[in-house]
Parts: sequence; structure tokens; C-alpha cells
Amino acid sequence: MNDILRTIHERRSTRAFENKPVPYDVTETLLQAALRAPTAGNMMLYTILKIDDPEMKEKLAVSCDNQPFIAKAPLLLVFLADYQRWYDFFLRSGAAELCQARGIELRKPGVGDLMLAVNDTLIAAQTTVIAAEALGLGSCYVGDIMEKYEYHRDLFHLPKYVLPITMLCLGYPREEAAERTPSRRFDQKFIVQHNRYYHLEGLELDMMFKDSRRPKLTEGAANFGQDFYLRKFASEFSVEMTRSVQAMLDSWNA
Ligand SMILES: Cc1cc2nc3c(=O)[nH]c(=O)nc-3n(C[C@H](O)[C@H](O)[C@H](O)COP(=O)(O)O)c2cc1C
Repeated sequence: MNDILRTIHERRSTRAFENKPVPYDVTETLLQAALRAPTAGNMMLYTILKIDDPEMKEKLAVSCDNQPFIAKAPLLLVFLADYQRWYDFFLRSGAAELCQARGIELRKPGVGDLMLAVNDTLIAAQTTVIAAEALGLGSCYVGDIMEKYEYHRDLFHLPKYVLPITMLCLGYPREEAAERTPSRRFDQKFIVQHNRYYHLEGLELDMMFKDSRRPKLTEGAANFGQDFYLRKFASEFSVEMTRSVQAMLDSWNA
């Protein structure tokens, strides 16, 4: 296996970090790699917010579903989908006057533009994850940055066309790389399909989840599916995430 493939196969999320800052030049190398990620139309529809202020980290550890490890990560990177820069540039370039002269309506960023920006943002984030591994850093995504939109918008001073999509916690892993066993994945046959979509049913679903179990189920759950439903899918944080993302969409479209 070559080094890049080994890095991909051996990566796993890191939530325990050494109490050691990420040096400036390492952070720079990491960010320069992130900016090499493929990007739609070469537009770079994202902003990366570097967070190393301890007070800010504490706030994010609370707002992102009370996950204390966030505050202990030496470096946080918040990945924002960003159409603001380009739209401001269109206006500055006289797009409104152009539309008026042509008798057409000025187009605003829509949900398609947002989806493209989200694509760009996540591709940059995952490029960062792999670059971090290559630099001996560990990382963990925090999806909860999509919760509490109004709070995060005010905390980061986000304008209308900038939305928080994901956050990465980064630092030197406390565990030795050799001790970190990669987490389980579903069998490839359930995930990779050929030419047409195949809708799994009944026993096929049982087969897919047959090795999924937890040492202890949530109270009242009779099996892994019920446990996961209660613990994740129908949990308070999932309900809040859906409310918050709806608020983001409403604000974007307003
Ligand atoms: C979009 C996304 C959001 C995630 N959010 C969290 C989170 O809020 N807290 C956390 O501890 N891990 C989070 N993770 C990490 C996943 O739990 C982890 O990737 C998964 O369990 C697989 O483990 P591995 O990364 O070690 O292979 C997130 C991962 C992704 C891709």
C-alpha cells in the first residue's frame, strides 16, 4: 500500500489530544493543503475560520451539544459555506445595473448555489482531514455546528450568505497511532451499487446491520435499530439540527 492509501485506511477520529499547540507553520501547511481541494468553477465557495481563543472554544464545546473534548482541542477550524464574497463581487461589478439595462431580474443565491457551496466546503474539510493525518495530527468532525444557527451566526458575525457547515477539532493524538484501530464499516456490497439503485428490503437490511450492536442499549430499546433511533435520529440534538438548518434556509431565501 502506498503512503496516501495507508493514511486513508489508518485514519480514525481523534477526540483526545495532547496538551500541545499546533505550531504556526504546521497550521499553515495544513491550510495550504485545504485550499488545494477541488472547488466548483474554481470559486472557493467557503471560508475557514481558525479558532484558538480558549473562551470561544469553551463556548463552542457547549453550543455544539455539550462535547467537552472540543474545548481541549488545540485548534478548531469552522468550515463555512460562503456565497457572500461572490455575490458582493457581482454587485460591485455592476451586475444589478447590467440586469436593469437588460430588463431582467437580478438573481440572488438560491438553494442550488447553497448546495454547491456546501459541496465545496465539505471537500475542503475532508482534504484538511487527510492533510492533518499526513502531518501527524488527529481530527474529529463536529456536525453540531449546524445547530443553534442564530447563536453561531452572532458569535461569528456571519452575513446572510455564509452558513456554518462543519467544524474540525485538530491536535496531536494522545493515543499512539499504532494503538488506534480503525472503526467498523458496513460491507461494501450494501454501499456500492452498479448502474441502477437497488432498494434494500427486509432480510437484506437485517444482513446489513447484523454485526451492529452496542454493549448496552438505551432504556426501553429492544434492539440496535430502536436504540439508534432513540439515541441519535429522534434525539434532541437531531431535532434541533433540523430546526436550525431550516432557519438557515429561510434566512438564505429571505
Ligand atoms: C458530518 C460528521 C459529523 C460528525 N459529528 C461528530 C460529533 O459531533 N462528535 C463526535 O464525537 N464525532 C463526530 N463525527 C465523527 C464520527 O462519529 C466518526 O467519523 C464515525 O464514528 C466513524 O469513525 P471514524 O471517523 O473513526 O472512522 C462526525 C463525523 C462526520 C462525518
